[in-house]
Amino acid sequence: MSAALLSARDMRVAYGGVEAVRGVSIEAQKGSIVTVIGANGAGKTTLLNAIMGVLPSSGSVSFAGEAITKTSLETRVARGLCLVPERRELFANMSVADNLELGGFRRSASERAETLEQVYARFPRLRERCAQEAGTLSGGERQMLAMGRALMARPRLLMLDEPSLGLAPRIVRDVLDIVQALRNDGVTILLVEQNARAALQIADYAYVLELGAVSAEGTADQISSDPRLVESYLGLGGGDY
Ligand SMILES: Nc1ncnc2c1ncn2[C@@H]1O[C@H](COP(=O)(O)OP(=O)(O)O)[C@@H](O)[C@H]1O
Ligand SMILES: [Mg+2]
Repeated sequence: MSAALLSARDMRVAYGGVEAVRGVSIEAQKGSIVTVIGANGAGKTTLLNAIMGVLPSSGSVSFAGEAITKTSLETRVARGLCLVPERRELFANMSVADNLELGGFRRSASERAETLEQVYARFPRLRERCAQEAGTLSGGERQMLAMGRALMARPRLLMLDEPSLGLAPRIVRDVLDIVQALRNDGVTILLVEQNARAALQIADYAYVLELGAVSAEGTADQISSDPRLVESYLGLGGGDY
């Protein structure tokens, strides 16, 4: 039997009377990179927030075989879910090191120190800039810091909301490389992206979200070679991404 780390079933979220997520079911196998791709407004952020438990939703979510639908955000974090939001949400006036420390605040000082060392090993740039205020970092460095801070909680499932947003193609490549490295370390990844071309390069499995519903799903190779999807999501722009 395959081991789904995350299984979200029939998720629905409405803002006022308007349904932004309309019966979405997705799964993430342990140790995989799963991507949800879709245009701006498709419902990607809403879906992640519902899975994280920060928005009221209907449907059911199970994690590592246990139902977490009715649990608090706190409990979900303790179980190993972690969301890096689209807006990064760093503390601009605090140093890189202090932002990282905050990510591990639920853990003991010794565990925190050990994980901080691992994060610095993964992101040498953050070590170099450990005393710098987060607000003065470049866009790429801010994304690295947001990911590093999430890793301080030692997540089992890392949910990334548009990590490539606003970054130059070369920096996007760096971010994708790191996401792959994290997966190789055993972290399961749920990657949400408008940048379908980038996401499909590293994903194992992909869902296409359109107007709040899954319009297609399959392996990244299947989705990448679906003529209809190539035209609507992948045909634009050319170049590497
Ligand atoms: N706080 C909100 N209040 C009302 N409508 C919202 C809110 N957040 C998002 N929406 C609407 O829900 C839909 C999905 O938004 P979102 O999940 O942010 O999409 P995506 O992340 O794919 O760009 C959009 O139509 C958006 O306008
Ligand atoms: Mg979004």
